[in-house]
Amino acid sequence: MSEKNLQNKPIGIFDSGIGGLTVAQAITKLLPQEQIIYFGDTAHLPYGDKSTAAIQAYAIKICDLLVKQECKVILIACNSASAAAYDLVKEYVGSKAKALNVIDPAVNYIGKHYANKTIGLIGTRQTVNSGVYKRKIEDLDQNISLHSVATPLLADIIEEGFFNNNISESIIEAYLSHPDLQNIEALILACTHYPLIKNQIKEYYKGKVDIVDASQIVAEDVKAFLEKEDLASGALTKDHKFYVSDFTLSFEASTKIFFEREVSLEQYPLWE
Ligand code: DGL
Repeated sequence: MSEKNLQNKPIGIFDSGIGGLTVAQAITKLLPQEQIIYFGDTAHLPYGDKSTAAIQAYAIKICDLLVKQECKVILIACNSASAAAYDLVKEYVGSKAKALNVIDPAVNYIGKHYANKTIGLIGTRQTVNSGVYKRKIEDLDQNISLHSVATPLLADIIEEGFFNNNISESIIEAYLSHPDLQNIEALILACTHYPLIKNQIKEYYKGKVDIVDASQIVAEDVKAFLEKEDLASGALTKDHKFYVSDFTLSFEASTKIFFEREVSLEQYPLWE
């Protein structure tokens, strides 16, 4: 990409499906002048139960598309893909785009606010088993003890529209009553679907535990990054675009849950 006029180029955002729209939404709210190109890999979701090698292969294909669209930044808006593929993506896109993930901003936030505390985390199996949060939090060297529990059912029920009802309440209660998640000061929502159940999680803890919703933190981080790198756009000049690797009407309808408005999804198969 030429170094000229990078400010007007879009921000590429990708996720396993439409859950990452919570992050896209936080970014468009905070940075309304930035054009977004969103890619949801609906043909391959859920990433949470895939192998690291499979997620890396999908991520590389998605980056090819986002680089072709001249994205100035590629943000991995999925914890599972950030855990499995961020280092590879960063190396792969090289100087063609700046690569960002959703894990580092959350880790830095925890470091700033919870030194010497015990923190909980919920996410997919891929995110929890990767141990990435644990490693990065240990690297902060701030005596933070992290207790992580995989909660694989949650993304699926949210995508099916089961939130803020008694079904999600029972499942949340079953997961959060895990012994490892007792006596914590804060809980990291380490999956981009979970902002939708934030209020129910808050209710479960009755205000005694802080809920760390990374979508807001990530949006703030992207803003600071664009300003630091002199990449911030002055005005929105083009429409956002939303691609999926497998189009269905139900995915399109669900965009409203995550993006607070329905958007038209365009099909873009990763492999012809
Ligand atoms: N949005 C994904 C994440 O943040 C979870 C959904 C999936 O398993 O694909 O990890």
